[in-house]
Amino acid sequence: MWKVPLFKIYWDEEDIEAVNEALRRGINWAVGPGITQFEDKLSEYLGVKYCVTFNSGTSALHAILLAYGIGQGDEVIVPSFTFIATANAPLFVGAKPVFADIEEKTFGLDPDDVKRKISKRTKAIIPIDYAGCPCLIEELKEIAQDYNLILIEDAAEALGASINGRKAGAIGDSAILSFCQNKVITTGEGGAVVTNSKEIYERLKLLRSHGRAETADYFSSIEYMDYVTLGYNFRMSNITAALGISQLSKVGKIIEMRRKNAQLMSQKLSHIEEIAVPHPPEGFYHVYQMYTIRMKNGLRDKLMKYLAERGIMTKVYFYPVHLTQFYENELKYNCKLPVTENISHQVLTLPMYPTLTEEEIHHIAKEVANFFSGNPCR
Ligand SMILES: Cc1ncc(COP(=O)(O)O)c(C=O)c1O
Repeated sequence: MWKVPLFKIYWDEEDIEAVNEALRRGINWAVGPGITQFEDKLSEYLGVKYCVTFNSGTSALHAILLAYGIGQGDEVIVPSFTFIATANAPLFVGAKPVFADIEEKTFGLDPDDVKRKISKRTKAIIPIDYAGCPCLIEELKEIAQDYNLILIEDAAEALGASINGRKAGAIGDSAILSFCQNKVITTGEGGAVVTNSKEIYERLKLLRSHGRAETADYFSSIEYMDYVTLGYNFRMSNITAALGISQLSKVGKIIEMRRKNAQLMSQKLSHIEEIAVPHPPEGFYHVYQMYTIRMKNGLRDKLMKYLAERGIMTKVYFYPVHLTQFYENELKYNCKLPVTENISHQVLTLPMYPTLTEEEIHHIAKEVANFFSGNPCR
C-alpha cells in the first residue's frame, strides 16, 4: 500500500445514490435514458452539437476512425509520447500510425514535425492533450485545413481544459474523451466521442451497437430493427452513465481542486533547480489530470525509486510507443523522435488528485528536495 498513491478517485454520496437509483429501478441496466442524458450534458459542457458515449476511450478511438472511413492504405499521424491506445487505433482499422515528434511547451504534437510527416496517404491527425494541458491545437488545425486532413483530438486526459476559453475537444473535427479511473472525472471505465458532424454522429451510433438501426430502445420494443452495417458492442451501460452524470455535475469543483493543488505543488518545488515544474503557455488552462515534472537524464529513475521507498507513488507517463516491443520488434518501427525520447527519459508524474492535502503536498515536495540536496532525512 502506498502512503501517497498516484491518484485517488474523487467521489461522494451523490455518486453512490445515482448508481443505487439506477440499480434499484431494476430495468435498463444496459441501455436506458441515462445514456442520452449524460451525452446531452457532455455536449453542453463542451459546447459541441453531438456526443456518443462508449465503454472506453479506446473503443471511442476505434469507432471514430471507422466512422471517418479510415482503413487499409491510409496513414494517421499520432504522437509516440502517449498512451498506446492513441497509436493502436489506426492499427485497429488496418491503417498505419505514423509518429510525429512533440514540442517542449506542452509535450503535444509538434506542428512542424507533423507537416514533415504528411504524405499522400495521410488521412488524419490525432494529437493528445498531455496530462490535461491543451496541445498546440490551433496550429494543428491550420495544418489539417491546409492539407485537407481530419483532426481528431484525443482529449482523454483533458476534460475541461481550454485555450483562451476554447475547450479542448471542441476545436478539431471530432474528439474522444476517457472516463477511466485516473481521469478528470471517472465512471470506472468509459469514453465518449464529441463532434459537430451529424453524419459522424449517426455512424457512431450504428458502430457502437452492432450496426443496428435503432428506432427505439431495443430491449423494450417489439419493433423489427435492421442491421445495416458491421458494428460492435461498444456501449456504455445505463448504470455507468448515471455515475457519469453525477461526476460531471461536479467537474468544475474537481478541476479547481486539482489546479489549486498543482499550484501549491509548483510553488513548493520551484526552488529546486534540477527540476522543471509544468508551465502551460499563456492562455492555456491546464486541468492537471496528471502533474508531471521534468529533470536531467539519469536522475529520474533514481528519484522514482527514492520516493517509492518512502511510500510515495510516481510513474513514468509516457515511455515512447515506438520503442515498445510490439512496435519495434513486431511492427518493425524504426523512428527518430529525438524530443519524444529526450522528454520521455526526463519526466516523472507525481501524485495529483482533488483531495491531495496540503500536508501531503508538503511531504512530497520535501522528499523531492531531500533527494536533490543529497541529504535525505530517513
Ligand atoms: C491520451 C490517451 N488516449 C487514450 C486513452 C484510452 O482511454 P481508455 O483507458 O478509457 O480506453 C487514454 C487513457 O488512458 C489516454 O491517456
